[in-house]
Parts: sequence; C-alpha cells; structure tokens
Amino acid sequence: MPPQATHAILAPSRPDEAASGPALEISGLIKSYAGRRVVDGLTLTLARGEIVALLGPNGAGKTTTIEISEGFRRPDAGTVRVLGLDPLRDAAALKPQIGVMLQDGVGAYTGAKARELLDLFAAYAAHPHDTAELLELVGLSDVAGTQVKRLSGGQRQRLSLALALVGRPALVFLDEPTAGMDPQARRGTWGLISQLRADGVSVVLTTHLLDEAEQLADTIVVINHGRVVATGSPAELVRAGAEGQIRFRAPAGLRLTSLSDALHAGASASEEAPGRYLITGERSPQLLASVAAWCAAQGVFAEDLAVERRTLEDVFLEMTGAELSA
Ligand SMILES: Nc1ncnc2c1ncn2[C@@H]1O[C@H](COP(=O)(O)OP(=O)(O)OP(=O)(O)O)[C@@H](O)[C@H]1O
Ligand SMILES: [Mg+2]
Repeated sequence: MPPQATHAILAPSRPDEAASGPALEISGLIKSYAGRRVVDGLTLTLARGEIVALLGPNGAGKTTTIEISEGFRRPDAGTVRVLGLDPLRDAAALKPQIGVMLQDGVGAYTGAKARELLDLFAAYAAHPHDTAELLELVGLSDVAGTQVKRLSGGQRQRLSLALALVGRPALVFLDEPTAGMDPQARRGTWGLISQLRADGVSVVLTTHLLDEAEQLADTIVVINHGRVVATGSPAELVRAGAEGQIRFRAPAGLRLTSLSDALHAGASASEEAPGRYLITGERSPQLLASVAAWCAAQGVFAEDLAVERRTLEDVFLEMTGAELSA
C-alpha cells in the first residue's frame, strides 16, 4: 500500500454530526443462543474520534457485540446507542453514517469485479469517496478489474475495508481487519486506521494481534465470556498491578530465604531451574538495587541480569486464562 495521504481524505461525509456524545454506548448488553449467554451484561463507551479495540478469546462475544451495534442482530436486553441512535429502530438514519467490515468479508458478491463492487457500494452513498482513489489507498489498483472470487484472501480483506469506508462513515466497525494480510498490507492498514482517527472518524476494531491493539487503540476492552474483564489505554493495562520480574543467572543453590529477606515486602525469589533465578514483585528501582546489593554482599556475580516488563500479552492471558476454551 502507498504511504498515507496527509490531508483529511477519510473525513466523515457529515462531520458536523460527529460532534457530540459518545460514538458508541453499550450498557448491560445481553444476548443468548439456545439458552447460552454469549454476551453477558457487557458495558462499554467509545468517545467520538477515538479507536477502541475489543480483545478476547475465540467465542468471547466480540462479533456478536459488533453485529448487534451494526443492527444485524437483536439484543435480548440492554441498550446500545450508535452515534446517539438505536441500531434497530433508527436503522435508516444510522446506516449511511456507519461503515462495516464483517469478519467473513465480501463472500456473497464473488462474481463481480473489485472495482464494480466498490462502485456499487458507492452508488448507495450520498457523498461517496472517489473509488479509484480508495482502491489506490488500500493497494488494490492493480487488481481493480479482477473478479472478487479470484482475489487472494488478503486482497479480499482489503476490498472489504474499502467497502466499509466508501460511504465516508463517521464510525467504522472493523472485525479483525488485518486477519490474513501480509505484513506490508497490515502496516498499510494500520496507517489507514490511524488516518481515519486523524480525520475524526471513530473506530471499533477487534483483533487477536496484541501489537495491533497496542499500536492503534486509545482504549482496549478485554472481553471474556461476554463480559468486560479489563478496560484501559494500552499503557494503563500494562501498568496495572505494576508487576515485574527480574531474572539472573548465578551458581545453583543460592540461599533463597536470605535473598527474599533482603527484598521489600511482596517481592519473592525463586530458583526456576538450577542456577536460574526469578524475582517477582513491584517493579521499582529499590527492587533492582536490593537484588544487586544482596548479590554483592554474597560475592555472587549475577549474569544476564534482566528486568522484564509485563507485556499486553501477559495481561491478556491473565485476564482471560491461558487454556483453550470452546
Ligand atoms: N447465530 C448464532 N447461533 C448460535 N450461536 C452463536 C451464533 N452466533 C454466535 N454464536 C456463539 O456465540 C459465541 C460468541 O461468538 P462471537 O462470534 O461473538 O465470538 P468472537 O468473540 O467474535 O470470537 P472470534 O474471536 O472467534 O471471532 C460463540 O460461542 C458462538 O458459537
Ligand atoms: Mg469474531
């Protein structure tokens, strides 16, 4: 994909309407299938012009939540307001203002050529993007005349993104937008999503790529079993608990009780494998200093001393469990 344009190329068609109230407000949302609750009291808010990333294991309820917000599924209970509107009752007013990239992509229209399909979607919009320009932006100009069914998976995904954007929406829902894309297309799409934000468009995206969420999102919402289990900026989530780890190598059999005594309350030392030591506790200069001081007092040279930061992946696995679930 080409570098992103710097002017407000993706700005909503009716920017004046993108001014007040949250872009998306979901409260106490409940949805069951065959008596099984897949969305279970979910509540979240997306401020206008921001990007929220929904993270969660397979089956957590992300797509269900998004499709209810798009007006494709009916909730059992709870309220959903999209740009201040009810997705079912106000569907006619809402549809022109939102862009939708479904998880399963463009499947149904496979006989049409990429450009034809985009032109068709543009014809339904009041103030569509220039379709040639949009194809260029998503890197599909070279295959504009190719039938959708002949496009590669990643190209189809990019077409699906173009279809979501062609009507100049104020809010876009991107369900796993970069799934199946090569690294270049993924970077290009990240650029495009950042450009959306810069142009005042609000974005809801789901992803299984934690670096994608970390790069793009203002707010990350972690969902498990249909419930929000954590919310915050990427930095806040990683900081939460401020837990850290210090590792070092030294001769096997150091006296761990003596080492633990030298650390502040709440920190502890263990020997993970012979000669490999792990200190866990609140990341602080004092913790690092007390480990080094203890080693110095014992005449121990700590090799490969490393302070490890919690990653978003650590947080995610803690919140949602590391085991596979249905
Ligand atoms: N139409 C349906 N009928 C019955 N069950 C459904 C239906 N749609 C979704 N489900 C179930 O609801 C649960 C949540 O599905 P959903 O697609 O929302 O998950 P998700 O978080 O998007 O997962 P993934 O990361 O795999 O895309 C799953 O257990 C799924 O099997
Ligand atoms: Mg999904």
